[in-house]
Amino acid sequence: MITPLSFDDLTLETDRLRLTPMQSEDVDVSKAVLCDARVMRYVNDAMTPDAVEEDMINSVKRGAGGRIGLWAITRKDTGAKIGTSVLMPVPIEDDDYDWSLLVPGSYPDANIEVGYLFVPDAWGQGFATEACSRIVRFAFEETLLPEIVATADPENVNSHNVLQKSGLQKIGIKRAYAWDDVLWFDLTRDRWSAAHETRP
Ligand SMILES: CC(C)(COP(=O)(O)OP(=O)(O)OC[C@H]1O[C@@H](n2cnc3c(N)ncnc32)[C@H](O)[C@@H]1OP(=O)(O)O)[C@@H](O)C(=O)NCCC(=O)NCCS
Repeated sequence: MITPLSFDDLTLETDRLRLTPMQSEDVDVSKAVLCDARVMRYVNDAMTPDAVEEDMINSVKRGAGGRIGLWAITRKDTGAKIGTSVLMPVPIEDDDYDWSLLVPGSYPDANIEVGYLFVPDAWGQGFATEACSRIVRFAFEETLLPEIVATADPENVNSHNVLQKSGLQKIGIKRAYAWDDVLWFDLTRDRWSAAHETRP
């Protein structure tokens, strides 16, 4: 049995950002990223606002005692919501998440990936790396997962940089999201522990 974490436990702070578990009121930032073709260029087709609203019932779901799911990302200085981030099972044969894998008492039987979408105004300021690194730390401190993966379009160099600055390594091209040529990254618990061991 996995101990459930509260909303406050799942609220992640960084110097400049606050990551909160996705709630229905975060439909605004969900639309801001998912309906913008510039944000979705390397991810999927941009969604319609109606489709985002219909999908919020899934976007607020969480699994493994709350540890797996989506977060909304807010700038602490302005209070503006600037993006979303995920720890979610990577779909292989489908182009979207299988929300049925999110169940309260166990981890999904799949690779768990970190991912993020930011509004264009927030690019180029280090926010994505700050959020991704915090989610990765949460994953190794608050879950029992042996590794975290990430997937990216081979041409999405800005995202590759975010992942590598967050400690993930390229592991090669494999199938995901129903495409055969997706670039995968990973970070094992052993590598993360070695990089974060407390030195006297
Ligand atoms: C992918 C994406 C998240 C990358 O965002 P990003 O802003 O480039 O990434 P970072 O947060 O690491 O910011 C890095 C840049 O901020 C700059 N920067 C400015 N202030 C900074 C600070 N205080 N700290 C760190 N970096 C800072 C860095 O110099 C770097 O600029 P450069 O790219 O010109 O070298 C963003 O382009 C995005 O949301 N794209 C659409 C969605 C997407 O593709 N998601 C990934 C799917 S796999």
